[in-house]
Amino acid sequence: MIRFFENYSLKKYNSFGVDAMAKFFFEFTELKDLMIFLRSDKSDKEEKLLVVGDGSNILFLTDFDGQVIHPNIPGIDIVREDRQNVWVEVGAGEKWDEFVSYCVDYRLGGIENLSLIPGTVGAAPVQNIGAYGQEVCTVIEKIKGYDLEKKEVMEFSADECLFSYRSSIFKHYLKNRFIISSVVFRLDKFPEFNLKYGILEEKVKEKGEKNLQNIRQAVIEIRSAKLPDVKNLGNAGSFFKNPEIDIEISEKLKIKYNELAAYPAKNGTVKLAAGWLIENAGWKGYREGDAGVHEKQALVLVNYGNASGQEIFELSEKIKQSVFEKFGVELEREVNCI
Ligand code: EPU
Repeated sequence: MIRFFENYSLKKYNSFGVDAMAKFFFEFTELKDLMIFLRSDKSDKEEKLLVVGDGSNILFLTDFDGQVIHPNIPGIDIVREDRQNVWVEVGAGEKWDEFVSYCVDYRLGGIENLSLIPGTVGAAPVQNIGAYGQEVCTVIEKIKGYDLEKKEVMEFSADECLFSYRSSIFKHYLKNRFIISSVVFRLDKFPEFNLKYGILEEKVKEKGEKNLQNIRQAVIEIRSAKLPDVKNLGNAGSFFKNPEIDIEISEKLKIKYNELAAYPAKNGTVKLAAGWLIENAGWKGYREGDAGVHEKQALVLVNYGNASGQEIFELSEKIKQSVFEKFGVELEREVNCI
């Protein structure tokens, strides 16, 4: 199926609920439809392109003067199985959390800690979604899609995706050039549970047995208590990344702020909790018009109703500046600002 519109509102296609317009909007449910569209007169080769799933990691600062491509390919298919693993190919348009629920129901482990993350399956690898000690890259076998420059259907192995903390090749080098059509996941029939994060183990114990269902329920409870639901309050999850800094700088900060939330990271660096920095710069619960900082998790910026993308962005700039002035730490945005 193909749907094509001109001057189309993107309000339903970004979880901040910003009312930006796309000059052109194209949705497809099969890869061949995308290829047909790209060869047609409707696809203007000169237009800027933007690939949008559910828009749960995007902030529109203004209308988009180009073509928005919305992959909506459905399907969850088991493609291979051995004693230990099951390989499942999932269409880019499937909802991420529905896929997590499917895996938990079929007793397939590997993504249960990623329960309740908004967005589509096709968007999950782009920013390498992660939570509670799990990252999606560890269960990805390969990614299939279409390269708009090479005009070729292509596959990427997990290694070729260059995954790192909230990042991949699709977020940088192949941004708006490669359209993911499906993802093949390698899930575990006998998973080792990852309950190292904070209160997760305790929450699971309260529920009884350590199993996928109980882990999923515990994660849902932890997230719901802290993170706003995009259905009720516009937001895009963490607005900034947790910054990685040199251990010496972190030691100096610790002398001044002994409560500093800091965790050892790779290559001898230290990861700071951006939420802690923002809260301790005084922003938690702050509101300016309809743009605000969530009252329970300072890393999440929210739209109370009719904030424009520009207003939310300006608030984020003020936060960045004030965190830098107070702690000397530069925050990097995680959300894609268009
Ligand atoms: N903290 C504060 N104040 C705040 C928020 C956090 O002091 O307002 C402190 C907490 O005390 C805690 C630490 O910061 O010690 C970490 O907080 P939390 O466990 O809530 O996680 P986070 O680092 O803020 C990251 C991810 C989330 C993910 C959680 C759980 C990033 C950018 N964010 O947040 O991912 O759900 O860990 O694993 O890495 C997302 O990417 O959109 C997202 C929600």
